Amino acid sequence: EKGGYEHFMIKEIYEQPKAIRETMTGRLAKDDSAVLFEELKWTPEDVAAIRKIVIVACGTAYHAGIVGKYFFEQLARMPVEVDIASEFRYRSPLIDDSTLAIVISQSGETSDTLAALKEAKRLGARTLAVTNVVSSSIAREADQVIYTWAGPEIAVASTKAYTTQLISMCLLAVYIASLRGTMPAERVKELIRGLKELPSQAHELLEDVEPIKTFAQKYGFNEDVFFIGRSLDYAVALEGALKLKEISYIHAEAYAAGELKHGTLALIIEGVPVIALATQRDVYEKTLSNIKEVKARDAVVIGLAMKGDEQLQKYVDHTIYIPATDKYLTPILTVIPLQLLAYYAAVTRGCDVDKPRNLAKSVTVE
Ligand code: M6R
Repeated sequence: EKGGYEHFMIKEIYEQPKAIRETMTGRLAKDDSAVLFEELKWTPEDVAAIRKIVIVACGTAYHAGIVGKYFFEQLARMPVEVDIASEFRYRSPLIDDSTLAIVISQSGETSDTLAALKEAKRLGARTLAVTNVVSSSIAREADQVIYTWAGPEIAVASTKAYTTQLISMCLLAVYIASLRGTMPAERVKELIRGLKELPSQAHELLEDVEPIKTFAQKYGFNEDVFFIGRSLDYAVALEGALKLKEISYIHAEAYAAGELKHGTLALIIEGVPVIALATQRDVYEKTLSNIKEVKARDAVVIGLAMKGDEQLQKYVDHTIYIPATDKYLTPILTVIPLQLLAYYAAVTRGCDVDKPRNLAKSVTVE
């Protein structure tokens, strides 16, 4: 059932090119001019009635929601809030019938997310579920559903569910942006073309995992690791840190790179591994100066850069390159080396990769 792989997690990491393709199947116009959502069929009037989006989820799905916020704000120019389901429920959220509440859940059974969805409905919001499981409780409760079509995810650590959630968020953002007229037609085309290249680019990343395996073996016994990045890179840093904690039990923290000097820099000492994501051009120089700050404290820096970047390697100890892509699509690629790093670190430490201690695949208790 593991198809020759040692663990479900690595099998599912390798299934990502296919899963990403499936998420997009039937949802892109042949001429790359539009995103099609047969299951939504919204009109410009439907979208005009939405004043605010709130995204609610837990864990990895919450991290997909943070990326979603960037997409909806930047592409569709919509105000967005992202909440952890167990927080949202208890803070009397200010939402009404002009709110679109999007809940994200791989399993569709997470009880806090389900309860948040019910609360949003009770307050009159329109609801949309992004889930991987057909007819799950969340799919049945929401007004509308977008399936991620990642196929069954067995490992407790979420991998292909996350990348397909990101694709779903991006498609939805472009769909809404087109209905709101906030994206020029050429830009839509460009992004759709970028999306179509992702399956083969993800495949390319999975072809050469040796360097990542080596890092994992070399640093896998460190007790603390930091992940830093800005904007979309920060959102992916959060997911990279969660993955590492969850399956390798290494203490990992993700920090917005600019926030380091507000406290965390005190923890950066000689030999501490710092994974620095630097794929975002508009904040590149700023990120670079944060990387210099940690290097000056003798941290060991593993940089993640986009192919074609000649500069980053001069300031870090090791560099991992992702294939060149649209700035909005980088998270779908940058997360793959981070998943692999967590996986090989867990293997190095002899952890139970597919069933980490204290955790369950589907959290049906509050
Ligand atoms: O099934 P869901 O997407 O609702 O699950 C949410 C979280 O429990 C889940 O993403 C969890 O954080 C993963 N184990 C992370 O790898």
